[in-house]
Amino acid sequence: MHVVLLGPPGAGKGTQAKLIEREWHVPHISTGDLLRAAVAERTALGMKAKAFMDRGELVPDDVVVRLLEGRIQAIDCRTGFLLDGFPRTVPQADVLDAMLSSQRRHIDHVISLEVDREELVRRLSGRRMCSACGNICHITLDPPAAPGVCDHCGGRLVQRADDNEDTVRARLRVYEEATAPLHDYYRARGLLRCVDGSGTVEQVLARVHLALDGRR
Ligand code: AP5
Repeated sequence: MHVVLLGPPGAGKGTQAKLIEREWHVPHISTGDLLRAAVAERTALGMKAKAFMDRGELVPDDVVVRLLEGRIQAIDCRTGFLLDGFPRTVPQADVLDAMLSSQRRHIDHVISLEVDREELVRRLSGRRMCSACGNICHITLDPPAAPGVCDHCGGRLVQRADDNEDTVRARLRVYEEATAPLHDYYRARGLLRCVDGSGTVEQVLARVHLALDGRR
């Protein structure tokens, strides 16, 4: 099963992908996570990406595509993946198609999580991420048992560098301008399923299941 998750920053793509990954044993690939790891490891690609991420802009395609190419060729992706954060533009969608068709694979489903802007800002401003395992929570909407400590591994919870107000505004603008046109791209191919991303994590997961029902 090859699934693309679309949706604006804070829509819950990472949250849902992690749950589906655990349930269905399909690897979750987040280009944001790949980029953050490259930045943390201070690799050449990470150093090139950092300034773009700090401004909330898209990282150049050559950087993102190189990271993604390596990941989807890994053995655990042989039978599928959940792609979160890629593609983000129509040219990236074309690259993904070409990458997959050269391996006789194709996208099966595209799920777009729809959430209103006020809720997105609320989710992003309270998001915390585990510095050790990457688990995501929220200080009020999905609080950890002990403040600042990851429920999964006991690691330290931190705020993402790009979750400040100015950068969030820039990321939302980039989404509208560059990524939203992908709806038409995938709708024209009969792959797009729009899912209401409001409500609790469990309610959204149930809707995602319905959208994917019987399609594994
Ligand atoms: P990336 O990491 O992909 O960020 P994003 O797309 O902005 O998405 P987010 O991770 O912010 O949101 P999400 O939808 O995953 O929400 P989450 O589940 O965490 O990209 C970061 C940067 O990397 C980009 O700005 C760009 O610079 C670069 N980049 C990445 N990919 C690129 C590409 N392809 N090309 C070029 N550049 C690229 O949830 C958010 C919060 O809400 C959490 O606190 C969570 O606990 C909470 N929450 C989730 N669901 C619910 C719910 N139902 N109810 C209540 N709270 C909820």
